[in-house]
Amino acid sequence: MAMVDMRDLLQHAYSNRYAVGAFEIVSLDFLQAIIEAAETARSPVILNIVEPHFGLYDLDLLMTATIRAAKRASVPVAVHMDHCSSLETVQTSMRLGCNGVKLDAASESFPVNVQRTREVVDMAHAWGIPVEGEIGYVTGMSRGDSESNSDVPVYTHVEEAKAYIEKTGVDFLAVSIGTVHGRVKGKPRLDYTRLARIQEKFSIPCVIHGGTGLGEQQYRKLIDHGVAKINYFTALAETNAKQLEANLKNKEMSYQQVFADVREKLSEEVKHHMQVLNSAGRAAEVLMQCRSWRNVENVICYNPDTEDQGLIEEMLTKGQQDLIQIPGVLNVEIGRSIDSNSRSNYCWLVSVANEEVLKSYKAHPIYENYTKKASLGITVNVFEIFVAVG
Ligand code: 13P
Repeated sequence: MAMVDMRDLLQHAYSNRYAVGAFEIVSLDFLQAIIEAAETARSPVILNIVEPHFGLYDLDLLMTATIRAAKRASVPVAVHMDHCSSLETVQTSMRLGCNGVKLDAASESFPVNVQRTREVVDMAHAWGIPVEGEIGYVTGMSRGDSESNSDVPVYTHVEEAKAYIEKTGVDFLAVSIGTVHGRVKGKPRLDYTRLARIQEKFSIPCVIHGGTGLGEQQYRKLIDHGVAKINYFTALAETNAKQLEANLKNKEMSYQQVFADVREKLSEEVKHHMQVLNSAGRAAEVLMQCRSWRNVENVICYNPDTEDQGLIEEMLTKGQQDLIQIPGVLNVEIGRSIDSNSRSNYCWLVSVANEEVLKSYKAHPIYENYTKKASLGITVNVFEIFVAVG
């Protein structure tokens, strides 16, 4: 059970001068390769899912596998939903279990970026989930992955960055200092002075988008200037395509070998990257410093004081629909007893994102309505338990 709080994860990286790689998951092969790399390198890792690539997979299935992989890993893992276009995607991804989010609003005007980011921060923090903001604009996300990118980035303005952090309350700051998504034409030139001036104004873990194509020295210098998370995808997509193409030409290879070999190549590249970012070998110390990210199940058991089955069913459904509205609630299931000696006949099984939100969950009027008072005019005899899962 090594899904961890992303705030603690990046704070540890920031304080100890290394960066955590955020590697994008676009298939089960990528997921297995990245987790395998993290396990072998004993490195913390961020599994990154991005909205512009939702068309490549069934999000529900991919997220289920990703969360499962994060939870059963023996190294620290966070699951981040990146490049969301709307509050709806943010909400959906939190319900699917991710524990870090970012909305894309950096190409908007400063006031609009602030306002939209603030809305995400309000929503995600109510779930106990940290938010990555972006000021300045790292271009190229919408161009397609392996194209050479000639877009000019919009550099982060230092004073704007300070105002943005203060007005939005973001937990991590993505900065634009010369990288672009995808490969750049020529050698990327990075503005470390800008990064240093941002860090002088505000101590906040910084994030670099467009990790592909940077040299080892550049990664190290970024880390020295306060970067704690580096996103990396295009190079992995290229490795995947190149290896697949070569393997498919080899008529000796079986179907299984073709894909196992591609996974191995991806994994090697991720492992190498973890060494460069200096996150390799740190899993144990990180685990000691990070709060684990565990869901909590609240089982609300009750007996309605009525024989009217219609009223009971109405209450069950209404409770399910109402309880899911509470910030931090991932899912609500209805349970019906199959044991005639049971103390209660019905329950709602409410899954809450993590222990941190329990205080606000318990203080919420909807929760109080279904646990402390009569609902829908039926007197209910309630008892409940809370259990941490995992
Ligand atoms: P690259 O594709 O350039 O590695 O960047 C990935 C990224 O920043 C995703 O947000």
